[in-house]
Amino acid sequence: MSGEGVEVPTPGVENLSVAEGNDDFVDPWNVQSSSTAGRFGSQKIDDELINRIEKVTGKPVHHLLRRGIFFSQRDMHQILNLYEQKKPFFLYTGRGPSSDSMHLGHLIPFIFTKWLQETFDVPLVIQLTDDEKFLWKDLAIEEANRLAYLNARDIIALGFDVNKTFIFSDMEYIGSCKEFYMNMCRVQKLVTFNQVKGIFGFGDSDCIGKISFPAIQAAPSFSSSFPLIFNGRKDVPCLIPCAIDQDPYFRMTRDVAPRMNMPKPALLHSTFFPALQGVQSKMSASDPNSSIFLTDTDKQIKNKVNKYAFSGGGATVEEHKEKGGNCDVDVSYQYLTFFLEDDERLAQIKKDYTSGELLTGYLKKELIEILQKIVTQHRENRLKVTDDIVKQFMTPRKLNFQY
Ligand code: TRP
Repeated sequence: MSGEGVEVPTPGVENLSVAEGNDDFVDPWNVQSSSTAGRFGSQKIDDELINRIEKVTGKPVHHLLRRGIFFSQRDMHQILNLYEQKKPFFLYTGRGPSSDSMHLGHLIPFIFTKWLQETFDVPLVIQLTDDEKFLWKDLAIEEANRLAYLNARDIIALGFDVNKTFIFSDMEYIGSCKEFYMNMCRVQKLVTFNQVKGIFGFGDSDCIGKISFPAIQAAPSFSSSFPLIFNGRKDVPCLIPCAIDQDPYFRMTRDVAPRMNMPKPALLHSTFFPALQGVQSKMSASDPNSSIFLTDTDKQIKNKVNKYAFSGGGATVEEHKEKGGNCDVDVSYQYLTFFLEDDERLAQIKKDYTSGELLTGYLKKELIEILQKIVTQHRENRLKVTDDIVKQFMTPRKLNFQY
């Protein structure tokens, strides 16, 4: 089984170039297509892989995997080989803390990561890139660091196990961990300015902080960056669940890993969570109406869904009954695929909406109830996350795993 895509010529060398005139250009800031599996050597998550995950874990896969929301991967078969052989690996994911309140879409990778951790029972490290947000946004450095703590609370509220999870802010951890910084330096030495220009589109007037930042996002892929957790081992492989826009960082990481004598990280990529206004429009933390925030009240949720969720239904009731609704563009339906766990119920809704029997209003009502429940539950869980609990998660320490 080859872990690489067909286009990669030399073992250990990732396809870092951005094809000319390529309308699937993917960098962390421009993603114009979700048909990117296959590009740059990543692979589609197909039925064969899903069946294999179910077989080796003895559990049905998470609906985000089953429904194609996580749709692309690198080296997931290798991770399953390790699991079958009872060899260790670990999970790494992260978040750029850019706003006070996270929205529902931000939860998706973490909900999925939690399932992975519970299913495979492995250590998890979560990087909060307060440095990244300071460099990219109009944010004071202290504010970026404060947001890291605030976002940690939302992440912890999803129910991660403190004995198996380490959450860190770059600003704090990097200064305290020599081995992490050593890995950053190793990566910095192996990647040229030309390469990061090609991968991330940096230009001459980007600050030098941005240009070297990719090394910081790469470093947690290596177990030696966490000497307390892995007891100094540098050979424990890593699996990274993330949204597809983060892939460029890890293409770069995979390219340098063999030259560092360290394993390449494996990846599971998700598509984007659509804005309420539709798949085409971009969700933005500065537009409160573009998504549902974890701080929204029941009333706000109801109003936003009713007013802004793009409908794939007919213009009039008559037209809708005649022609039916279009689930492919209907945002309420899309959101249900993310949050309604019951497969049968979802299939029934799809059937009845497509035939025109169900009206958009019904779909929205169903969605509103589900989202209100999720956000209420989240709010209650977050209230239970004390400063002391946040501190426990964010203290460098040994986890409940032996190496
Ligand atoms: N750059 C990511 C963001 O802006 C944060 C991040 C850091 C991340 N490390 C990661 C995301 C690993 C996924 C996986 O949100």
